[in-house]
Amino acid sequence: MTAIVIGASSGLGRALAEELARNGHALLLVASDVRDLVALAADLRLRHGVAVEPLALDLSREPDPGARVLEALGEDEASALLMPVGVSREDDAFGLGVGAIGQLLAINLHAPLAIAHALLPRLLVARGAIVGFGSIAAVRGRGRNVVYAAAKRGLETFFESLRHRHAPSELRVQFWKPGFLRSNLTFAMKLPMAPAEPSDLAADVVRRLPKGSFDRYAPAKWALVARVLRALPWSLFRRVKA
Ligand SMILES: NC(=O)c1ccc[n+]([C@@H]2O[C@H](COP(=O)([O-])OP(=O)(O)OC[C@H]3O[C@@H](n4cnc5c(N)ncnc54)[C@H](OP(=O)(O)O)[C@@H]3O)[C@@H](O)[C@H]2O)c1
Repeated sequence: MTAIVIGASSGLGRALAEELARNGHALLLVASDVRDLVALAADLRLRHGVAVEPLALDLSREPDPGARVLEALGEDEASALLMPVGVSREDDAFGLGVGAIGQLLAINLHAPLAIAHALLPRLLVARGAIVGFGSIAAVRGRGRNVVYAAAKRGLETFFESLRHRHAPSELRVQFWKPGFLRSNLTFAMKLPMAPAEPSDLAADVVRRLPKGSFDRYAPAKWALVARVLRALPWSLFRRVKA
C-alpha cells in the first residue's frame, strides 16, 4: 500500500511526507524540483525504513499528470492520495496575463482533478482516502488572489461532489481549508495572524486519515473567521482590505 503526496517537497507536503513515513507508510512523492525530491526520499528511507519513490513532474506543463502518477505507482495499491500542492502569486489580480492564469489554474485545479480522476479506481479498490487542500482565501471573492481563490473554490466543489458520490465506507473524502501556514507561500508576507506550523497540521491530517469524510478549516478557529466573513453584508465586505 502506498500513500501518494502531490506537492511533497516543501511546506505542508514535506511535513506530510515526514509524518506518513514516521507512521510506516510507503510513499510516492511528487513535486517539480527533482533535487529536493530525491534528497527528501533518501532521507525518509534512511530515517524511517519505508519505501519512498520520487516523481518529478511540472504540473503546470504536464499534459496527463494522472497517467504519470499511475505509471510511477505500478502495481502498488493506493491507500491514500494527498494533494497539498498549490501556488499563488503577488500579482494575482485583474490584468494577469493568460499564461499566468493558465499556470495558476493548472497547478491549483486542473492537476489535482486530473490526478484524482486517474487514481479514483485504485483508491476505491483499496477503500482508501483522498485528501485535498483549499484555502481560507476562497471563502469570499476579493480583489486579490483572484485566480487562486477561484481555483481553490473549484477544488472545494470537486471534493463536495466526491463526498456526494462516495460513502465514507468506500472512499474517505477529506477536504482541509487552512488559514495561514508558515511556508514558501507566505514567506516574507505581512500576515494579520501568526501562521500555523505545517508539522502541526500534518500530524492532524495523518491522525484523521482513517476518520471518515469531512470538510474542515485548520486550525479550527478559521471556521469562525469564515462564518463572520460570509455573514458580512456586501456593503461592509467590500471595505475589507485583507
Ligand atoms: N501557506 C499558506 O498560508 C496556505 C494558506 C491556505 C492554503 N494553503 C494551501 O495549503 C497547501 C500547502 O501549502 P504550502 O504553503 O505548504 O505550499 P508550499 O510550501 O509552497 O509547497 C507547495 C508544493 O507544491 C509543489 N508545486 C508547486 N508548483 C508545482 C508544479 N508546477 N509542479 C509540481 N509541483 C508543484 C511544490 O514543489 P516544487 O517547488 O518542487 O514545485 C511544493 O512541494 C496548498 O494547497 C496551499 O494552496 C496554504
